Amino acid sequence: MPKVGVLTGGGDCPGLNAVIRGVVKSAEAKHGWQVIGIEDSFQGLILPGKTREMNAFRIRGILPQGGTILHSSNRANPFEYPTEENGKQVVRDVSDQVFVHFKELGLEGLVAIGGDGTNRIAARLFDKGLPVVGVPKTIDNDLRATDVTFGFNSAVTTAMEALDKLHTTADSHHRVIVMEVMGRYAGWIALESGIAGGADAILIPEIPFDIKAVCDKVRHRVEKGAGFSLVVVAEGARPKGGEASVVTEGGKGKGLPRLGGIGNKVGDQIADDTGMDVRVTVLGHIQRGGSPTAYDRILATRFGAKAMAMVAKGEFGRMVCLKGQTITSVPIHEAITDYKYVPLDSGLILTAEAIGICLGR
Ligand code: F6P
Repeated sequence: MPKVGVLTGGGDCPGLNAVIRGVVKSAEAKHGWQVIGIEDSFQGLILPGKTREMNAFRIRGILPQGGTILHSSNRANPFEYPTEENGKQVVRDVSDQVFVHFKELGLEGLVAIGGDGTNRIAARLFDKGLPVVGVPKTIDNDLRATDVTFGFNSAVTTAMEALDKLHTTADSHHRVIVMEVMGRYAGWIALESGIAGGADAILIPEIPFDIKAVCDKVRHRVEKGAGFSLVVVAEGARPKGGEASVVTEGGKGKGLPRLGGIGNKVGDQIADDTGMDVRVTVLGHIQRGGSPTAYDRILATRFGAKAMAMVAKGEFGRMVCLKGQTITSVPIHEAITDYKYVPLDSGLILTAEAIGICLGR
């Protein structure tokens, strides 16, 4: 039986296990391939003894599980692999080791499930001769190559449910509650969860905000008799003329800063300006955990089955994606170069403003 490896890289995301299952089950039921699970992202191809045979029986029950049964890593780039030599930390290109282990395992293809970092590594390995198919993953939904990424719908649902809970406590105490959500430099999670959860103001990176507009909205609601407000802030949101709020520089193994803290800043400013009682909730990694929604389970299963079909046909160097209702693929190099932000003329923005949600302008 021909063998295909599967790995998950980068941050976790609801639906990863559903993709793994899609690969394993279709490999077995349709294509007659054996799947080898590779642990801890590319680390499982750099170091020995980090693989396991997979079959439908061994993966039973993983469809509703969050996280990834193969585990993941943000620090497993074979082209820049941190290692210790003579007591010193050095960074080495160990990509040749990937090829050695790939051959030793008898693999004829690899499915790499991950975000832009993982797909970037997959693209470089493909250029070096590795037969690889990429599968995009991120709760942020910010990859232009695919209309939607799995995990996004689950993250939005989690954030919406949190807002529903904050709604009742904000109302009971006549408070303003600010909720900070993830999404990096794209406002998709904030905008969709804010609309779904009935937010009064939503601040996204694509629209630098004027805090005065938010405070006016909060005051207006009080004047109209609603003594509370809900404000959703994307972690990458920034004030007009200001910068995004950064926790640490250079996180996530992609040279980008770790974002966070804008929720508290916005909360302090609303409290100062309006004199209202304000509380801030930072949703954090709760958005990345838990069981995938039905939408994400289906999308992830379709991505997994498509990736396996591409491996079986020898269509390497491509990344699976969703275009409209169709699962298709794009060259992996194209897939990693372009991000997707909320267009200012998008229907979501128009709808939000049409129903009176303040977008900070
Ligand atoms: O890219 C997914 C994401 O959850 C972002 O929304 C967030 O900014 C980042 O990852 C957090 O990364 P980490 O888990 O490394 O803190």
